[in-house]
Amino acid sequence: MKHEITLHVNGDEYPIAVDPWRTLNEVLREDLNLTGTKFGCGSGDCGACTVLVEGRSVNSCLTLAVEMDGREITTVEGLAPSGERLHPIQEAFVERGAIQCGFCTPGMELSALHLLEKNPKPTEAEIRSAISGNLCRCTGYNKIVEAVADAAGRMKPKK
Ligand code: FES
Ligand code: FES
Repeated sequence: MKHEITLHVNGDEYPIAVDPWRTLNEVLREDLNLTGTKFGCGSGDCGACTVLVEGRSVNSCLTLAVEMDGREITTVEGLAPSGERLHPIQEAFVERGAIQCGFCTPGMELSALHLLEKNPKPTEAEIRSAISGNLCRCTGYNKIVEAVADAAGRMKPKK
């Protein structure tokens, strides 16, 4: 039997009926057409599916959609909602050459956002730790670490 839930994604509300076994990743990608969130391993190993739930990074492939009823979810589409201006993290990734195929990028950027919102001036070790759950199969880790450090300087501190 389907469950009636309301997902709050990037500030928008999505009332939806979902089967109880469907993951947040499936519902975001297939029902809401928010395909910026990727699907890689499906087992919590690659981080390609990372989204923020109330500011905390989670693997959407391991999260049931029904558990997300009423929770605030941020996906990569929410980083630059108007589409006119990239988020400072995205600007830094582009300018630092931290994107190759781009498959890991949405998850990396959300892990970076999670880090920078709680730690605006992270050390290199803290950045590496924060993205340790995100695999880049193009292995561009040094550029990604540089981009996150650069993004830290571009983001306005939260009041
Ligand atoms: S697809 Fe979720 S961790 Fe790999
Ligand atoms: S840029 Fe290709 S997987 Fe990271």
